[in-house]
Amino acid sequence: MTTVKACLFDLDGVIVDTAVYHFQAWRRLANELGFDFTEHQNEQLKGISRMESLELILNWGGVTLTEEEKVAWATKKNQWYLDLVMQMTPNEVLPGVPEFLKSLRANGIKIALGSASKNSKLILERIQMLDYFDAIIDGNNITKGKPDPQVFLMGAEATGAQPSECVVFEDAVAGVQAAKAGGMKAVGVGSADILTEADIVIATFEDFSVEKLAHLNRN
Ligand code: BG6
Ligand code: MG
Repeated sequence: MTTVKACLFDLDGVIVDTAVYHFQAWRRLANELGFDFTEHQNEQLKGISRMESLELILNWGGVTLTEEEKVAWATKKNQWYLDLVMQMTPNEVLPGVPEFLKSLRANGIKIALGSASKNSKLILERIQMLDYFDAIIDGNNITKGKPDPQVFLMGAEATGAQPSECVVFEDAVAGVQAAKAGGMKAVGVGSADILTEADIVIATFEDFSVEKLAHLNRN
């Protein structure tokens, strides 16, 4: 049995439900450009960088923009998103997350963030969770987005753990694929119908514990 030395967490939709704010802000952008998209389509945007998300959305709406226009719209979207983020409080941390992170620390397991977001530190500060993390790897550090494993491999390295000693927590299909591509165990957070490639899926951290973590990595 491989010992778990580090847990790597996605941010949006795992630590805190910013996924709903991303959806609202992207939808506003689409609406202002004259079209709409569904919550089902939104699943494809989870875990994907800001500019890649914009490309997908423009494609859905059949809208063509110049590079300059794309940057301007992405900036607008981020401003709308940040307006929502700035209203967040520590109460929005998802159920069971602080307790689980505290129990990891008590068991000597390292904790890293592995997020595509360039806003991750701001959000962690806002919800008063910055101090829980031994390492933060986010959209400002990576050159390849999920499903490439880069963000999680960097997280493993920053915590001194081998990929096989890491467990990743993810709400996005692309994020689960990134974890698996990196040779790590993946715990899906959300729906088992969507996160089919995860080793197990939990609805909330209230369903999970350090004891279950050891069991998960037994092979
Ligand atoms: C990911 C989200 O965590 O971060 C995506 O799941 C988002 O929806 C991406 O597009 C980039 O975030 P940001 O905050 O840099 O726009
Ligand atoms: Mg996510």
